[in-house]
Amino acid sequence: MKWWTDAVGYEVYIRSFADSNGDGIGDFAGLTSRLDHLAWLGIDVVWVTPFYPSPQADFGYDVSDYTGVDPAYGNLGDFDRFVGRAHELGLRVMIDIVPNHTSSDHPWFRQALADPSSPQRQYYIFRPPAPDGGPPNNWLSHFGGPAWTRDEASGEYYCHLFLPDQPDLDWANPAVRTEFDAILGFWLERGADGFRIDVAHALSKHPDLPDNPQNRPLPPDPTPGQAFAAFDHAHDLGQEASNDIYRRWKSLPGAESAVLVGEVYIQDVEKSASYMGVGGLDLCLFFGLNRRPWDATAFVDEIREWSEASPDGFAWTIASHDENRPPTRFGGGDLGRARALAIWTLLGSLPGLPFLYQGEELALEDAHVSPEHVQDPVGHEAYAEGRDPCRTPMPWDATAHGGFTTGEPWLTSAPRRPEETVEAQRRDPGSHLHLFQDLIATRKRLADRRRGVVEWLPAPPGVALLLTGSVLTMANLDDRPVTVQLPAGDWQPEFDTRRGDLPDVRSNVQLPPASARVYTAV
Ligand code: NOJ
Repeated sequence: MKWWTDAVGYEVYIRSFADSNGDGIGDFAGLTSRLDHLAWLGIDVVWVTPFYPSPQADFGYDVSDYTGVDPAYGNLGDFDRFVGRAHELGLRVMIDIVPNHTSSDHPWFRQALADPSSPQRQYYIFRPPAPDGGPPNNWLSHFGGPAWTRDEASGEYYCHLFLPDQPDLDWANPAVRTEFDAILGFWLERGADGFRIDVAHALSKHPDLPDNPQNRPLPPDPTPGQAFAAFDHAHDLGQEASNDIYRRWKSLPGAESAVLVGEVYIQDVEKSASYMGVGGLDLCLFFGLNRRPWDATAFVDEIREWSEASPDGFAWTIASHDENRPPTRFGGGDLGRARALAIWTLLGSLPGLPFLYQGEELALEDAHVSPEHVQDPVGHEAYAEGRDPCRTPMPWDATAHGGFTTGEPWLTSAPRRPEETVEAQRRDPGSHLHLFQDLIATRKRLADRRRGVVEWLPAPPGVALLLTGSVLTMANLDDRPVTVQLPAGDWQPEFDTRRGDLPDVRSNVQLPPASARVYTAV
């Protein structure tokens, strides 16, 4: 059995987790001092977002040195102490690796610009202009505009699927593969237990770089997202060849037992599922409910479809540092919180590896960031609300800035309410935090009973009824109470998002709106 089989993961956005030195930026020493919170919660795997030296054009997803620590976050000694403490507490460490692109400040790219005949030029995708002098093809950047920027010195263009400050590496070049073997090896030796692979579906491009077919007309004045979605990304994303890279990584010394979790952001179930197993990845992050309006029926169907396509292949998430927080997306207030917890209860019963994003255990909604305080460089261009509202500092206690820093936080936002903090919720056994701890404990406690067939039983639209071994999970995402028909037998309650004092049941159950429960066969 893989070590992550029954595990629960937690994403730490390091910049906003805990600051130890008062510079307003979260760091490794701060994170280490707060690991007890994660251990108490029942977490097994901590995913840390990029902490490498970086000009921070995309807050760390623009790496200028893959084997260092940005001074804002500490140094390699701080990283080692973090890993040591995490391991002492029984937590595994998954680091975020960014192989699709480097920073334009990376020495490889600087060399590539300075000397077009250098080997480093071949690390990137430089091409002559199209006959009209424009970009070599019609590919677009996720963050807006063409995926090509002209290098004035040589007249060639280089490819970047994100910012111009994030030039894409050419993974067809064996030298790039060799460089990354060493980078992964470096972190494995320092104790990393796995990697979250940024934009794992984009590393390999079609060798001829053909135009992507356009599948719908562009609306007038399109947002970057609308423009991107108007194309079938047949040639820039989702190429089979990426799988060779992950298979290769899996065979690196020490990597066999490491978990490889791909950020495979393609809304195609079959294609996503193909990355697992022979595809080389252990898990793909699930994005099925992101950036979609609330729709109880569609959400249940989506989770079912993905789970059936690869029963233990998804890293289930509904929150991250890129998305509005779930309670906000799902209607806000108590309703949004109840819906988010009901969905998480369902995901937490599935095989695969569910991930919480920092603050999700507190049921945080998006924080308010006023326009003059926006930090995300691509915020308002590529994302309707920007990504700052989900990236604000973690509220630990009722002191200034939620106990995140003794200085001024790097991202200014409206203060959190006292009852939103870790400290207040730890004191209150009726808090969302305690519910989450209970939910995670339930996943662990029932691990053996969940083994066996995963079966989605008939249920009304917007309702999930899931049998995993002898564990029955039900989630009603609908706005009305429903009657759920149970399989034969007596069922004993194990967890209820509403903390009801529930009796054993047989034949059917009345399930309130926006709620979920877990039962086991008696
Ligand atoms: C996905 C990361 O989660 C996001 O924050 C980043 O902007 C892009 N990849 C580009 O690296």
